Amino acid sequence: QKPYDFLIVGAGFFGSICARELTNQGYSCLVVEKRDHIGGNCYTEKRDDIHLHVYGAHIFHTSNEKVWTWINQYAKFNHYTNRPIANYKGELFALPFNMWTFNQLWNVNTPAEAQQIIAEQGKDIQGEPQNLEEQAIKLVGKDIYEKLIKGYTAKQWMKDPKELPKEIIKRLPVRFTFDTNYFNDRYQGIPEGGYTQIFEKLLEGIEVRLGVDYLADKSTFNAMANKVIYTGPIDSYFNYQHGELEYKTTRFDHVKHDYPNHQGVAVMNYTEEEIPYTRIIEHKHFEFNETPSTWISYEYPEPYKADVTEPYYPVNDQVNNDLFQKYRSLANQEEQVFFGGRLGEYKYYDMHQIIDRALTMVNTFTKKSMNDSTTTG
Ligand code: FDA
Repeated sequence: QKPYDFLIVGAGFFGSICARELTNQGYSCLVVEKRDHIGGNCYTEKRDDIHLHVYGAHIFHTSNEKVWTWINQYAKFNHYTNRPIANYKGELFALPFNMWTFNQLWNVNTPAEAQQIIAEQGKDIQGEPQNLEEQAIKLVGKDIYEKLIKGYTAKQWMKDPKELPKEIIKRLPVRFTFDTNYFNDRYQGIPEGGYTQIFEKLLEGIEVRLGVDYLADKSTFNAMANKVIYTGPIDSYFNYQHGELEYKTTRFDHVKHDYPNHQGVAVMNYTEEEIPYTRIIEHKHFEFNETPSTWISYEYPEPYKADVTEPYYPVNDQVNNDLFQKYRSLANQEEQVFFGGRLGEYKYYDMHQIIDRALTMVNTFTKKSMNDSTTTG
């Protein structure tokens, strides 16, 4: 008899939701987490009365009623609406591209005038665009491409946009209205008191071991539970036997200033290539906080190196998706181990999508678990 029904690897949304739901259904769970805190990439830390998003800005948005009702059991959301600003060589523009942006760029006031300029500037791209640069110019014209896309994309991908596949920006959010709300979702906001308290509530009464790398001692941990839910990178689980999956990663430099307001907005994108960071986040504006000091974070894209840098964004291009399928086949052969979450499924999921997946998938884990709970790992 093993001491736990489920071993859950990772205390992000996927792992924590599984732990909560399974515990509620009477299963015993042990959660192990590599980092020294719970919350995964949604973790926030209180610094000088400001909730700092340690792994990058996390703005909750969803149109999914089920998810919205579910998350509201664990947090009260404020009315934050994401309205980022682009800074190109000191000139400020509204994002996503909307009538304010066109007015700032070209001094036009009507959608028809803006559409005409975009069409005029995109007409040089004859036939099928061959790369990201051509695709972008075709969609939004030269000015927007040069000022707001080119440098930012080059920094983000660490490549010339001419060398990037056009598929990356098949669609660009362009609005011919004066709506500066970044998201189209019905619900949006930041949890009052930060994200970490959501995870504290989710994991209340559940055994969590922090600072524990499951992969460093896999067989010992496997011997402790009938089933494993693994939310780490799928390629690392299989010891990279088919090669490494690619991720984009970012370094976050958190800096405190002893004055109350640095940039007057939560998210400012720096779109020129010469400035090495892509964004500055000023955390207090997520929560309408009026503290005397402020915390800001610079975001620097960095090359990814497995087991050295953090795997933040899966790169879901053809090569990586094909490689993922090989790992998926291996995963299907693991009868006692379930793979879930952004890293386990190698898919860029937002928080609301992960919550939906965890709430749905956890029931399949229990069904399977009850059928073959006598088998060992
Ligand atoms: P997550 O990565 O959160 O958790 C996995 C956990 O497993 C980690 O804590 C990790 O340490 C642990 N782990 C891995 N390997 C392990 C091992 N071997 N042993 C033990 N533990 C191990 N979404 C959104 O809706 N709005 C937003 O604004 C943003 N912004 C955003 C910014 C940045 C920079 C990123 C990277 C992501 C976002 N997201 C987002 C997405 C959001 O972070 C994501 O949907 C959830 O964190 C996914 O939750 P998971 O539980 O799948 O992974």
